[in-house]
Amino acid sequence: MNLPLLYTDLAWIWPIISPPSEYRREASMFRREIVRILQPRPKQRLSLLHLGCGGGHLDWNYKKIFTLTGADLSQPMLDLAHRLNPEFEYLLGDMRSLRLGRLYDAVVIADSIDYMLDEAELAAAFATAYAHLRPGGVFLTYAEDTRERFEQNASHCFSEKQENVEVSVFQNVFDPDLTDTTIEKTFVYLIRQDGELSIHTDQHLCGLFPNSTWVECLEGAGFRVQSSENTYGDPLYIGIRPE
Ligand SMILES: C[S@@+](CC[C@H](N)C(=O)[O-])C[C@H]1O[C@@H](n2cnc3c(N)ncnc32)[C@H](O)[C@@H]1O
Repeated sequence: MNLPLLYTDLAWIWPIISPPSEYRREASMFRREIVRILQPRPKQRLSLLHLGCGGGHLDWNYKKIFTLTGADLSQPMLDLAHRLNPEFEYLLGDMRSLRLGRLYDAVVIADSIDYMLDEAELAAAFATAYAHLRPGGVFLTYAEDTRERFEQNASHCFSEKQENVEVSVFQNVFDPDLTDTTIEKTFVYLIRQDGELSIHTDQHLCGLFPNSTWVECLEGAGFRVQSSENTYGDPLYIGIRPE
């Protein structure tokens, strides 16, 4: 897989455009569901595997809460995660094929699952989650978009500043072929550093599936499935590995 610029040469802007504090609500939502289902003893620290952990911004919200392993395809993103959360373990790994030979209480895949481009890849990521869960363990993931909710040619932009760097981001989402399972997310980054402007374009190929595919792939991997909504109103999927 060719990783986008945002996860390679421009990984350094990730903490500027998507800081760890932005993951607070999402982190509490995952934690609330994990605790509701697993009901840990007081002071018991559950183990969590985060697939597609990126810069570790979600993880930053779990210090002193979980014992955490993060895995990602991008070494520059893992370097950011390691620097931010030196107490956690970070490993290079593909969520479609990783096998650590260890079992965790919980597995999450957050805003990286949309890099699964077809049903086979989605199923492979879910199989990885299942393979790393103890019986009774819980897997959480969500769809940033589903075929039912998709809005063609939607755009938005925002700007963020940190010290001497200002980054403006324009994002457009477009589906050139409504009959397949992929969409294009195109980004333009304007980076102003010490008065100098550089402009970069980046294209992320992402998967888009109907709700039924998510549920079928989760059940196909062996999970008992519950679904609800995440904090942004997107579908949240909870898979429990049967005892
Ligand atoms: C939006 S970022 C995740 C950010 C992360 N939630 C955080 O807290 O910083 C998406 C990540 O998915 C990773 N990714 C994409 N495909 C992957 C795969 N097949 N296996 C593992 N990671 C993958 C990218 O390298 C990127 O770091």
